[in-house]
Amino acid sequence: MWFYPKIIAHRGGGTLAPENTIAALRCGLSYGFRAVEFDVMLSADGIPVLMHDPHFGRTVHAQGQVAQTSAAELGRFDAGSWFGAGFAGEPVPTYEQAVHFCKTNGIWMNVEIKPAPGHEAETGRIVGDVTRRLFAEEIAIAENDGKPHDPSGLPLFSSFSFDALMQAARAAPAIPRGFLLDAILPGWHEQLKALEAVALHTNHRKLSHRQAAEVKQAGYGLFCYTVNDPPRARELLEWGVDAFCTDRIDLIGPDFAG
Ligand code: G3P
Ligand code: MG
Repeated sequence: MWFYPKIIAHRGGGTLAPENTIAALRCGLSYGFRAVEFDVMLSADGIPVLMHDPHFGRTVHAQGQVAQTSAAELGRFDAGSWFGAGFAGEPVPTYEQAVHFCKTNGIWMNVEIKPAPGHEAETGRIVGDVTRRLFAEEIAIAENDGKPHDPSGLPLFSSFSFDALMQAARAAPAIPRGFLLDAILPGWHEQLKALEAVALHTNHRKLSHRQAAEVKQAGYGLFCYTVNDPPRARELLEWGVDAFCTDRIDLIGPDFAG
């Protein structure tokens, strides 16, 4: 059950642009990608922003933490220089800005809710609330169609945090959910059922052919991260994997799955 695009640009533009920025989304688009994954975390003032790491240092040359910095300050940070001088001054976008860019350009979103430690439930709830507001029209259309999982403009939530995803489900029940598991361990089916998830998202390096078959047999979508090698990508698709994200948007294009 996978109603979404099959090949998805990881963190916006994979490794071809500074991750989780509008420049990354623009880069993905320039390679023809109209499907994207990005990470969403809360600022100190409870605004969802695009960010992977809870601490600064890797993509932002600063000290401190996202959860202790306001969205306005984050918007003045340079999240582009680490990648290349041509991206200097690229800000940390808010989730709302990213959604606006994606909706304007017809880009589908796998919204990975990435709470800073200790902020799991709050992040899920707020991302759910904001998404429900930003997609009010699309949610109404999907509900009137009687096809709640139809890809008519609705994003997909994903998270490694069960609590975040549960709160997102409460806040925005119409937005479908995929549960992220680094490795598929016993109990996965119960967790997906509790979340009323439509898909399981997992690390392709730890996935076996047999597990892929089990997930599909149970009726779930199966998404893998992060697949950068074309022969491996072909193998996963043959195993029945529905979709994956890639850092190598230059090697694996949006039509790779045919
Ligand atoms: O959503 C799949 C993938 O992005 C999970 O890993 O660390 O890149 O967010 P990470
Ligand atoms: Mg991610």
